[in-house]
Amino acid sequence: MKRTIQISALLMTLLVASCSQNPVKETAEVQVITESEREEKLALGDLISNMAQTSLLQNVSKEMKAGGPVHAVEFCNIQAVPLMDSISKANKVKVERVTDQQRNPDNYLKTENDKSAWVKFKSAFFKSEKPVPFVVEENQSLVYYKPIAIGMPTCLKCHGAPDQDIDISTLEKIKEKYPNDLATNYKMADFRGMWKVSFEK
Ligand code: HEC
Repeated sequence: MKRTIQISALLMTLLVASCSQNPVKETAEVQVITESEREEKLALGDLISNMAQTSLLQNVSKEMKAGGPVHAVEFCNIQAVPLMDSISKANKVKVERVTDQQRNPDNYLKTENDKSAWVKFKSAFFKSEKPVPFVVEENQSLVYYKPIAIGMPTCLKCHGAPDQDIDISTLEKIKEKYPNDLATNYKMADFRGMWKVSFEK
């Protein structure tokens, strides 16, 4: 009985403390992300985005060989998102590709951090500096960004100039699957978008 009273007294104190907007308590709740955690997530982001990129590239190249770009567009349309989802699930993160000129409407820059990361990389590309991947804090967790460039001529078959690089049937297939496509007219070495890896808290 005495113990119960003691516990309720403790609960009362806690309740009062939590209602009294004690600034010390609030700062105590904020989790500080350490430098080593940042480094770890930066390395993990590199690893996971490389894995995702390799997996996408291998699959697209295989489908291009098997049935040409029209067939490969079909593959990307059906498989790109589930492929990212399975890599996300396996690593307990969220892997996405985001850009300012999206093909898939879900891949548009979403958050303020997406937009500032994009501006940062874009200016590095503009100045011909090497854009460096980084992590940024968001909701007490970390988000990793890495630039994606038009790194090989194959990319142009689906993202280049419609009248030169992309053949008519591929263009028709793209328009059929993505009526609001904005992801054309890129040139070699252009900044195309970003890998984004969001870590859990
Ligand atoms: C066979 C055609 C094809 C080729 C080749 C291709 N892509 Fe794409 N790309 C697509 C399609 C289709 C999508 C939309 C996928 C989806 O629905 O998520 C896409 C989406 C993207 C996105 C995500 C942003 C967005 O616009 O939705 C990036 C980034 C991207 N491609 C970069 C590249 C790069 C870099 C290369 C060369 C290494 C490349 N692509 C080669 C067809 C292609």
